Amino acid sequence: MRAVPDGVYLCPSVGEYPVYDELIYSVISGDEQRNRLFRRAIAAAAPGATVLEIGPGPDLLWTLAAAEAGAARVYAVEVLAESARLAVETAARRGTACVEVVTGEATALTLPERADVCVAEIVGCIGGAEGMAAVLGDAERRHLVEGAQVIPAAVRTLVAAVSLAGVLGPEPVLASVFGPYVEGIFRAVGGPFDVRFCLAGVGPEMLRSSPAVLEDLRFGAARGGQPGSRGGDLRLEITRGGPVDALLAWIELTVAPGDRPLDSLADDTNWLPVCIPFAGGPVAAGPGDVLSVRATVSEAADGIHPEYFFRGELAPADGRPGVPVHAESRFAGGPLRATPLHRALLRQP
Ligand SMILES: C[S@@+](CC[C@H](N)C(=O)[O-])C[C@H]1O[C@@H](n2cnc3c(N)ncnc32)[C@H](O)[C@@H]1O
Repeated sequence: MRAVPDGVYLCPSVGEYPVYDELIYSVISGDEQRNRLFRRAIAAAAPGATVLEIGPGPDLLWTLAAAEAGAARVYAVEVLAESARLAVETAARRGTACVEVVTGEATALTLPERADVCVAEIVGCIGGAEGMAAVLGDAERRHLVEGAQVIPAAVRTLVAAVSLAGVLGPEPVLASVFGPYVEGIFRAVGGPFDVRFCLAGVGPEMLRSSPAVLEDLRFGAARGGQPGSRGGDLRLEITRGGPVDALLAWIELTVAPGDRPLDSLADDTNWLPVCIPFAGGPVAAGPGDVLSVRATVSEAADGIHPEYFFRGELAPADGRPGVPVHAESRFAGGPLRATPLHRALLRQP
């Protein structure tokens, strides 16, 4: 199997697209911090319950964990036909009679009964990017009993201003291992566009502003009457001077209420921070300047996968006129090579 690079590197955000393969699944299932939290939450919730897993992949990790914990029945709904076929083989090998693998998109099928517990590891590198809001909203309406527990319980996505050029230099490159995934994404959505790129090997020291919350998604019983939020007016105060050329987005994932959230910027997890470069390139920023942006989040044409738009200005602390800033992170379509990062990474053949 191919391997991902070490250190600081860029890669496409793949989880939103039907490009899963052995390498992607092995990176995900090798995330032991994540696995411990999911195993513990499932062991507590599954005994005696009817469980729905959305997106079990070929290995059925959480479906098998629920069965082993004493679930009465587990429905494992997987949209990718080949992953579902392998999941059927995995279930047969493990001899778990209470497991039923169902092939299809969770929003497009009906199950024989409602579940008490839902496990859905469809968490994106921007938390909602794999469609959690739409898919779990639909599951709560059609697949789950009222007050069902959803695992994970919540995911917040934060953003802050950064300098990509400061970390990557003037000529960022994409390792050749990732080329086929970018091609696969373009095939899946019908053509090239400025795809979402993640940045591995960086930490909170990269941030050049205070953070703001882009998305605050809460699921099932853990929502406790609180609706959560997406988008809004974000205020990022510059803490370190120099040019800024992008927003960085990262997640805080709460698997079960009371858990310490997994942090994709500070912790070593399979989720990576996402680069959202400014369309106009770098903007000079000094300490105390404020980047004010309105963030808009809306589902793409498929009604499931959200897209993220940011428009605002960087206002200098000394009262000089503000500089307009615009950035976006789409699921499909839209501009091609509109940012310096995308021009460098999506070179024409
Ligand atoms: C990130 S992988 C997780 C695999 C495994 N559950 C784990 O945690 O290791 C997400 C899986 O969910 C599937 N998936 C994503 N959205 C889905 C949906 N709406 N309905 C059914 N399957 C979905 C994907 O095809 C993929 O196999």
